[in-house]
Amino acid sequence: MVEFLRETVVVDNLHLRKIREGKTEIFVPDPFYYVKRKNEYMPTSLPVFYNPVMEVNRDLSLLAIKAYMDLYWQPKKEDERILYIEALAGTGIRGFRVLNEIKNPKVKVLLNDINKLSIKIMKFNASYLKIESDLTITNYDANYLFLRLRNTGMIPDIIEIDPYGSPARFIFNAVRCIKGKGGLLLVTATDTAPLVGKFIEAAMRKYGCFLVKSPFSKEMAVRALIYFIGREASILARRIVPLFAIFSHHFIKLALLVLRGRKEADKFWKEIGWVSFCNICTQFYFSKGLQNRPRELCEMEEHGLTEIIGPLWLGRIFEEEFSREMLKKIDELSVNPRNAKLIKRIFEWELEAIDIPFFYDLQEIARRLRMSIPSINSVINSLKSKGYKASRTHFNPRGIKTNAKVRDIVILLKHMVNQ
Ligand SMILES: C[S@@+](CC[C@H](N)C(=O)[O-])C[C@H]1O[C@@H](n2cnc3c(N)ncnc32)[C@H](O)[C@@H]1O
Ligand SMILES: [Zn+2]
Repeated sequence: MVEFLRETVVVDNLHLRKIREGKTEIFVPDPFYYVKRKNEYMPTSLPVFYNPVMEVNRDLSLLAIKAYMDLYWQPKKEDERILYIEALAGTGIRGFRVLNEIKNPKVKVLLNDINKLSIKIMKFNASYLKIESDLTITNYDANYLFLRLRNTGMIPDIIEIDPYGSPARFIFNAVRCIKGKGGLLLVTATDTAPLVGKFIEAAMRKYGCFLVKSPFSKEMAVRALIYFIGREASILARRIVPLFAIFSHHFIKLALLVLRGRKEADKFWKEIGWVSFCNICTQFYFSKGLQNRPRELCEMEEHGLTEIIGPLWLGRIFEEEFSREMLKKIDELSVNPRNAKLIKRIFEWELEAIDIPFFYDLQEIARRLRMSIPSINSVINSLKSKGYKASRTHFNPRGIKTNAKVRDIVILLKHMVNQ
């Protein structure tokens, strides 16, 4: 948990307060000074954005960077260093944590933000932490920064995009300048409403997908965002490989490996397709390949037409070796126990069902059967005892990922009630 400490300071009229996040202490705009009313949204009421709730998102970045360095980073020369760019850095907390907590002399950080006040705070923190030598701070529009880097020949190994809202407009240029042979792209989206199907036009406009509310909306959201990023990369003859895809609190967080080559980019499209689902029984169907027609009728024909959504990424959203490496790093980084518990649970559940896209919502099925919801673990155990794969999912507390059909679950639930 982030702690707001007692120490305050005024720098160029900016009222700052010391906080401790992870194992790092830096100064951020003082909420006790800037937030006047109870119902104000603290992060955006500050002159420079800071959201303590996103600590877990930043923990995920640190874990991903550590895992990436051990698994994928292959320096060609002894003295080669890794370059991490946070293009929309706010107070710079994430970059300061990277330097202070990963503590690897091989890591260089570039922090950028369009807001001049953000630059002031970052410079103040850099001198406070005495880490100016491994750090560059710039004040550009993120897209301009990416294009500029291309011209200067500086090739970032890792780019982090964490805007307030949609990351869509930064993706193309980020992919353009990141290392093509195995760069790591970390992306956060907080405009989750269009992605979960609440605003159909906005989802089409920003992500090029037709998305409506579904029982598996949160997983649909991450798969739509992966589709969008992969399509942008494909234009540049690059492929993205999802390493993890998480929907937690109110954000989506993706880690994507970027690979170069037309043949690579073609592989991406093999995993893109459509999903149709039945609003009566919640059974879903998917078809890979844009050229293939999704199923238009539910298997139970009396249920009629299905709802069709897409295009979506239908491949894996967790890479096993990378995920396990991240789990190992949790103790090395001493992530705070609450966040550590959450992260472990997410990865353990999703790895168990790594090959199973989407899930059934037990509450929805029980509601349709007019029965009370049985314990989710007992349903999972029953499915497993019948030979099906079954696991919980972090996308929904009542979600079950399984290779069983909804009608198999219905039979099982009725059986459980009659026992
Ligand atoms: C959500 S905040 C970043 C928070 C930060 N990543 C963290 O972990 O605390 C988004 C930041 O993007 C900056 N920003 C908005 N548009 C930008 C642009 N076009 N280029 C660069 N920075 C931008 C804002 O000034 C703001 O500081
Ligand atoms: Zn149906």
